[in-house]
Amino acid sequence: MKLFITGGAGFIGYNFLLYWLQHNPEDTLTVYDKLTHVSNKKAIKQLTDEQPNVSLVIADILDYPTLKEAMIGHDLVIHFAAESHVDDSLLDPGLFMRVNGEGSLNVFHAALENKVSRVHYVSTDEVFGEFTGDLFTEKTPITPRNPYSAAKAGAGHMAMAYFNTYGLPVSISNAVNTYGPFQYPNKLIPKFIMNAITDKKLPVYGDGKQTREWLYVEDHCRGIDTIIKNGKPGERYILGSGVIKENIEIVQLILELAHKDETIIEHVEDRLGHDRSYQADSTRLRGLGWEPQVDFDTRFKETFEWYKNNYALWPEFENIHTSSN
Ligand SMILES: NC(=O)c1ccc[n+]([C@@H]2O[C@H](COP(=O)([O-])OP(=O)(O)OC[C@H]3O[C@@H](n4cnc5c(N)ncnc54)[C@H](O)[C@@H]3O)[C@@H](O)[C@H]2O)c1
Repeated sequence: MKLFITGGAGFIGYNFLLYWLQHNPEDTLTVYDKLTHVSNKKAIKQLTDEQPNVSLVIADILDYPTLKEAMIGHDLVIHFAAESHVDDSLLDPGLFMRVNGEGSLNVFHAALENKVSRVHYVSTDEVFGEFTGDLFTEKTPITPRNPYSAAKAGAGHMAMAYFNTYGLPVSISNAVNTYGPFQYPNKLIPKFIMNAITDKKLPVYGDGKQTREWLYVEDHCRGIDTIIKNGKPGERYILGSGVIKENIEIVQLILELAHKDETIIEHVEDRLGHDRSYQADSTRLRGLGWEPQVDFDTRFKETFEWYKNNYALWPEFENIHTSSN
């Protein structure tokens, strides 16, 4: 099978490549990625050098002719590419609308024109807005509350419009917050690990009592695999873990692992429009044979160690000297 993976140099996309190669070593994979500052440039270049069945096209999903041509001859498209940081979306909502909205439309249209037999769009549980007591399900109304999730929601609607109008065989996943290796240190877990081990402050938004549900990246990748194999086009599937933590609990865990005390915590003004909580119900996907397999405490510790040992993957962190043992 020939896979076309947009955003395959990003956090989840790169983990997905490793996952897929492990389980389907005979497949051919094309990564289509602009290689923005958050991408794993060193790792993807190394992987494409070592694996003859993985190739990299460095290009923008907003460049439709290049995208359409690069996609020719592929059987399966998995669309990860996005601007993914909510904070950045508050500063430049237009960029998020273009990349996550128009860029996704381009991916769906190119797949239609190339008669790709299966497409999957990787979305987020943030499109359901803020958790107010009822777990998010596939039937929860789409009510995004920030520019990132609004653009992701728009692309999800477009995916379903392409399914209903033109018969594009596309499914959607809405996953909760994901953690693990290869995530650029601008998001909560990798950023706070990097700050803690280099004796920088941990800037906690507001009271830090916002809750998030945390899914290990390998479980996320297996969930997408399950949807591709057992799920149906035209449907959405929620990927949750049931592991709910307040942000301040994550911070405490990092302090413990880094042998640092609370004096490095700095409470800063809360993010504008910050959703207090997201919590999701993945019963439907569990019905297809998927369930999260990993133990949070073990994987969290492994993730901490991974960042301690691998920060040099990102050039800007190459010269960091960690002070923790
Ligand atoms: N990280 C999470 O917790 C999480 C949870 C649920 C869903 N998601 C979704 O999963 C997908 C992947 O998220 P991630 O955390 O790996 O993101 P990421 O920011 O780590 O990676 C995004 C990748 O997309 C690429 N990209 C960005 N703009 C592009 C463009 N215009 N053209 C081509 N490539 C471009 C980047 O270079 C990068 O490699 C996103 O669609 C995100 O919305 C993420």
